[in-house]
Amino acid sequence: MVVLGVIPIFTFYLGTWQVQRLKWKVALIDELEEKLQREPIPLPKRINISVLPEFTYRKVLLRGRWDPEHSILLGPRVREGATGYHLVTPLVRQDGTTVLVDRGFVSKEFAEQAKAAQAQDGEVEVLGMLRTTQARNNFTPDNHPERGEWYWADVEAMAEYAGGERANVQPVFIEEIFEGHSGDASWRQAHGVPIGRPPIVDLRNSHLSYVITWYSLSAFTSLMFLRLLLKHRRARARLPRV
Ligand SMILES: *[C@@H]1O[C@H](CO)[C@@H](O)[C@H](O)[C@H]1NC(C)=O
Repeated sequence: MVVLGVIPIFTFYLGTWQVQRLKWKVALIDELEEKLQREPIPLPKRINISVLPEFTYRKVLLRGRWDPEHSILLGPRVREGATGYHLVTPLVRQDGTTVLVDRGFVSKEFAEQAKAAQAQDGEVEVLGMLRTTQARNNFTPDNHPERGEWYWADVEAMAEYAGGERANVQPVFIEEIFEGHSGDASWRQAHGVPIGRPPIVDLRNSHLSYVITWYSLSAFTSLMFLRLLLKHRRARARLPRV
């Protein structure tokens, strides 16, 4: 009885806690969306890494030349059923440090070609958004730069691979923005041109489903508890008085 009485209270508490988390997440997403709406900023020559987290999701405008020699194929990744990689290439900025640009998805058969094609690009202008090192989960394998195997975007390690501080490379990670429609994307996919990401906030918000789960569980176990209580009372009432 005691255990069954505690469960509704405990699950109610968890539900309320998830309501708080939900509010926090919504506020965070709002804040990031507001950041994304702002005008692109030019990146300074030398970027202060310690203030970078404040600028996550800000749009930035870059100019420079690709360094395809130090390109990284991050993957495997899947886009609309096709397997491939994200092509990450250092951008050598004439007027500043070198930064890393995730150019987007290329399918497997075009990966090497897309990497090499960047050498012919000359000076490019890139619109992207600032990101930080990607979170990895327990199932993400370790990267093996020496074998060219990169499973997750470890910004520090990628900057080191591209030459590091000695070569004026800063651990700054930018995702190239692609705003074309799906027809443009299919054309790119068929021609081995990287497909960047749309400028949207892609944070997962599953707190609402947790709220619903915990509160339903709380309601359900309350009912069970009440039924048991009533049964108990009735059983008692039927006992012969002495
Ligand atoms: C980077 O920014 C922090 C915080 O604003 C500041 O304390 C620090 O001096 C800056 N570093 C450089 C090298 O400018």
